[in-house]
Amino acid sequence: MEKVVLAFSGGLDTTVCVKLLEEEYNLEVITACVDVGQGEEEIKKAEKVSKEIGSSKHYTIDARDEFANDYISRGIKANAEYEGYPLSTALARPLIAQKIIEVADKENAVAIAHGCTGKGNDQFRFEAVILAMSDYQIIAPIRDLNLTRTEEQEYARKHGLPLSSDKTYSIDENIWGRSIEGDLLEDPKNEAPEEIYAWTSSWEDAKDTPQKVAIEFEEGIPIAINGEMMGLIDLIGESNKIAGENGVGRVDMIENRIIGLKSREIYEVPGAKLLLAAHKALEELVLTTDEIRFKEYMSTLYADLVYRAMWQEPLREDLDQAIDQMQRRVSGKVVLKLFKGSIAPLTRESDFSLHDIEEISFEDKETDQREVEGMIKHHALQAAKYQKLNR
Ligand code: ARG
Repeated sequence: MEKVVLAFSGGLDTTVCVKLLEEEYNLEVITACVDVGQGEEEIKKAEKVSKEIGSSKHYTIDARDEFANDYISRGIKANAEYEGYPLSTALARPLIAQKIIEVADKENAVAIAHGCTGKGNDQFRFEAVILAMSDYQIIAPIRDLNLTRTEEQEYARKHGLPLSSDKTYSIDENIWGRSIEGDLLEDPKNEAPEEIYAWTSSWEDAKDTPQKVAIEFEEGIPIAINGEMMGLIDLIGESNKIAGENGVGRVDMIENRIIGLKSREIYEVPGAKLLLAAHKALEELVLTTDEIRFKEYMSTLYADLVYRAMWQEPLREDLDQAIDQMQRRVSGKVVLKLFKGSIAPLTRESDFSLHDIEEISFEDKETDQREVEGMIKHHALQAAKYQKLNR
């Protein structure tokens, strides 16, 4: 029998896919779960479900370091947020697809499968990478058969597939964030219930005293938190904890999906919100006006590319290069205050600071204020001429 490698989480969609691939497509199914920090429990669940369902082989691929160092780090340097969403799911998908290709190569498979529906963004992200980086046939059983969630549940019941019954929401999780969709959240008229949140306190339950946190950066990458140096994965973990306890990082939004649908999406991204706020606060100190303006434009462009499944687009690589060049000076320290969902920078320092305390001071005598007079005369010269004509 020919082999297919299925990107597998052990959730409803991918569990149903195993059986469908065997029965409807006559393929031997190899499941592969890529660890991008979704947690020990999720990794174990994938292993267990794969075994119970009788797939021929299961892979667990630890891609956490790569995810942090090659994907999240770029997101931080770019300040990449799509409509306020720090792209936690979107950044992980290209890496997951790449890892699945590697398994398919090893197994001499003929196809790669995924459990995405035909409505979301992830089908674009997986398939864009598979198409660009391999020649494998792509199978999307749920989309192919146009299945609804209820139909999937029925199919699973009929075939006695193992299912964690308590799941009402569709949740995607990795170290950069959690996304929660589905069920009553689909209707924007419904308030999101407190139970969906796992990483963040509500504003009401958040700590009653403000907390200070210090983040140090080297060339745009956070390297220490509260004076303690650590690798990016641990640092993000610590950021998630500190910001989450202070009610920072809940995003409840109406998102514009690739296929044009508007959807109500909820994210928990405490660490991302903290680190991006710190990073931007430091950039304000070290980048020039023009760099900051251009950076804002690049950030939007970068986020759109990542969101819209264009990780393989050369412009993304071009932007990375331009951003890296700018980030060489984004080193230093920012102290921020967290309190019941808000973040505010308190202090910033850097060896590359362009801020000159001598010059900006009201007490400065060195800068001759009179020199500016001539500059002003020319500054809005054309506007003045235009208004004179009007008058
Ligand atoms: N809407 C988000 C995105 O496109 C997250 C989708 C994650 N999937 C989920 N089952 N919650 O990046």
